[in-house]
Amino acid sequence: MPETTDGRPAAPLWLPAWTAEEGAQRVRDLFDRTFDGPAPDGVWSAPGRVNVIGEHTDYNAGVCLPTALPHRTYVALRRRDDDVVRIASAQTSEPWRVRLADVAPGAVEGWGSYVAGVAWALREAGHAVGGFDAVVDSCVPFGASLSSSAALECAFAVALDDVFGLGLGGDDAGRTQLVAACIRAENEIAGAATGGLDQSAALLCRAGSALLLDFRPGLAPQEHAVPTPFDLATAGLTLLVIDTRAPHQLVDGQYAARRTSCEQAASILGVPTLRDVTPEGLKDALTALAEHDEDGVLRRRVRHVVTETARAAELAELVRGGLGADGSPDAAVVARAGALMTASHASLRDDYEVTVRETDLSVDTSLAAGAIGARMTGGGFGGSTIALVRADAVEDVAAAVRAAFADAGLAAPAFLQAPPSASAGRDA
Ligand code: GLA
Repeated sequence: MPETTDGRPAAPLWLPAWTAEEGAQRVRDLFDRTFDGPAPDGVWSAPGRVNVIGEHTDYNAGVCLPTALPHRTYVALRRRDDDVVRIASAQTSEPWRVRLADVAPGAVEGWGSYVAGVAWALREAGHAVGGFDAVVDSCVPFGASLSSSAALECAFAVALDDVFGLGLGGDDAGRTQLVAACIRAENEIAGAATGGLDQSAALLCRAGSALLLDFRPGLAPQEHAVPTPFDLATAGLTLLVIDTRAPHQLVDGQYAARRTSCEQAASILGVPTLRDVTPEGLKDALTALAEHDEDGVLRRRVRHVVTETARAAELAELVRGGLGADGSPDAAVVARAGALMTASHASLRDDYEVTVRETDLSVDTSLAAGAIGARMTGGGFGGSTIALVRADAVEDVAAAVRAAFADAGLAAPAFLQAPPSASAGRDA
């Protein structure tokens, strides 16, 4: 156990979520300090997410199972009568300004592109969105693969929906249109070629539930996103999130390279997406890829995607059954759920090659300290891991990971509790 200078063991660093009142107060105060004139029209917020399982499946038309974090990004916003956007953030000293007429793919840069991108995408979809003054503050850790970017986009999506009267935020069908706008903002204006997992989680999750997302094209909204009650507390379990503090950056080449390999493999196999390769058809698909794939990269990527969707579907089924045979949690079912999570991590490490030393160490240490299952969550190349832990073992697992990082000479990780929380909405 590492020690502080006064000889006491160093305690794990916990990152609590703000209450809605605290978040709202922070952005109201920041708004007052930043802008002259009337008070904001309101305060809105959107959550970060953890993905329980189903990684790098969204852009392969596969399945994943996120929950919304209690950690949220808050926005105070006032509508303007022109098309000027002025935004400021507690997390950066750089205020940001643009005219919406000047927003286009490749034309804007910086953190504000995620915000202006949402307004741009809503306008592209035919909605009458104009300029606004806004400020942002957040307790979603940044660069931790907990979807701080989607939380930013989605908080603005619900704010703009409200103040410009678009009428989309009230049901899942409308929110699905907001999801689409946020994905376009991220892909086309911010320049990150991500799938739709994060934005769907931030706009469609329910408190107390995981969200079973199926990205097969052509599904109706209620088939695409199915809230699935996920009551870990009654099962005596906790989902522990470990922000390894290993830097994580999606707007770089690695994520896009994974996506391109998947598209290339699908095209060689003559299928629209890798969802069309079934677990039963995997062996034949790998054989067919062999002659185009000297170094085995495409085969490893395909093996991950196909097995990951199968694992995600199986875990979703276990969650739907209450992690038990007869509606009450059952140790064998919980153990199977943990095993699926751990197998997901091995696949991401060995076949998809998106884990790093810190995420591997965090997972291995969590398991050695008694976690029932553990895996990296999100895009990878750093970021966070999650561990399914008995509620009475949470502190021990956190202390073990804290100690292992100190022994390895790594920066101290941070820890979050992640009860499944609510999606984006108006706070005040
Ligand atoms: C990031 C992307 C998502 C998804 C995950 C990996 O979070 O934003 O679209 O691809 O990585 O599952």
